[in-house]
Amino acid sequence: MTAPAVLPTRLTDPELHATGDPHALWRRMRRHDPVSWQPPTELPGFWSLTRYEDIRAVYRDPGTFSSARGVLLRPSKLGEDPGGGLTLALSDPPRHKQLRALMADWFSTRAVRGLEEYIGAATRTVLRRAVERGECEAVHDIAGRLSMYVIGHIIGLPPQDHELLFRWTDEAFEAGVSLAAHQDLMRYFIDLMDRRTAQPTDDLLSSLVTGTADGEPLTEEEILFNLENLVGATENGRLALAGGLLAFLEHPAQWQRLRRERDLMPSAVEEVLRWTSSATHSMRTATRPTVIRGRRIEAGDRVVLWVPSGNRDEDVFQDPYRFDIARQPNRHLALASGEHFCIGSTLARAEMRILFGQLLDEVGAVERSGPVVRLRSIAVGGPHTLPIRIGARRTPATRG
Ligand code: HEM
Repeated sequence: MTAPAVLPTRLTDPELHATGDPHALWRRMRRHDPVSWQPPTELPGFWSLTRYEDIRAVYRDPGTFSSARGVLLRPSKLGEDPGGGLTLALSDPPRHKQLRALMADWFSTRAVRGLEEYIGAATRTVLRRAVERGECEAVHDIAGRLSMYVIGHIIGLPPQDHELLFRWTDEAFEAGVSLAAHQDLMRYFIDLMDRRTAQPTDDLLSSLVTGTADGEPLTEEEILFNLENLVGATENGRLALAGGLLAFLEHPAQWQRLRRERDLMPSAVEEVLRWTSSATHSMRTATRPTVIRGRRIEAGDRVVLWVPSGNRDEDVFQDPYRFDIARQPNRHLALASGEHFCIGSTLARAEMRILFGQLLDEVGAVERSGPVVRLRSIAVGGPHTLPIRIGARRTPATRG
């Protein structure tokens, strides 16, 4: 039997992710060409990995697979990522460990527990606003706002500026430009950094301005790049929230089950993470020659990990194309693995738990009110717009 043609080049076409079926392509690649070379186009050449075990192994070997030359594919003409070696995501051990230590306290289980009240109040505010209007566009009005308010709070922005952060980051995401290219946002961060340098307080930005790595304080550039990294990474949080809401709207029986069996909330959150896998790829650069499934990877080669593919690998997940909030085990890779395991994981999970909890308990029916438009991106996946109608909760008195 001849294997069907595998056209991995299409994977880098954003249109496929917006309107096509990348999962069909990934399924064929896992089966027929799991370590697949894609020659250079406007993007550099790279290896595509689509199987769970390979993706996990690369994530867990930062000595062989470096993050310092960028973790996302970018056109060759743009050169290497300017944040390379400077940010948490784009650094390798041992420096990575030191940078992570500067920020980890703000994302620990304990810290997130302390934030739950704030997240609950912020969620209530965005939901109340939506209910008052009767409808909204859930990606921006609920998920985006909520994620940015929370990361703004952690970084140390005054509450009155959270909406500004949301507006500016939204403008940059919409325009498809880096946050660093948004001048108002960068000017704002520089000003805030100066204020925290003059007078540190109890927030993440103060940890960055007072902390050291390799015994040296971080430079202004490093601090700015790390702020940009944190805020940019938060886009994954909003996509997991909005993608989760969409998954439940498309699987109403699972939503009703969650309503009946509330102790399934933690596994429902894991299944939303697996199902949405909003970080579409991570890239690494080989530091030395190595072999994966018989294919020789040379030092300097780029290796791209297609995370949603690993999370549908039929060798690991039973019935992987079924959205099942009770799935056990569910050792998905949505939040990566190893040294670079998502630092925002506990926070993202708490935001989902709180949002889904309030949608179940505090508002009325939620339904789609228009077509869903998916993101045109090879870096992150999920809904770009999700129009919904959202009703007020019917109290016993109004139930008649
Ligand atoms: C609350 C929102 C979030 C924040 C603030 C956040 C922040 C971060 C940061 C700073 C890193 C770099 C960690 C390191 O290099 O040590 C990271 C890594 C990562 N995060 Fe998140 N994240 C969030 C939510 C998510 C979500 C919801 C997903 C996916 C569902 C996700 C997927 C990932 C992945 C795959 C990596 C590894 C990237 C790589 O090294 O190639 N994150 N996250």
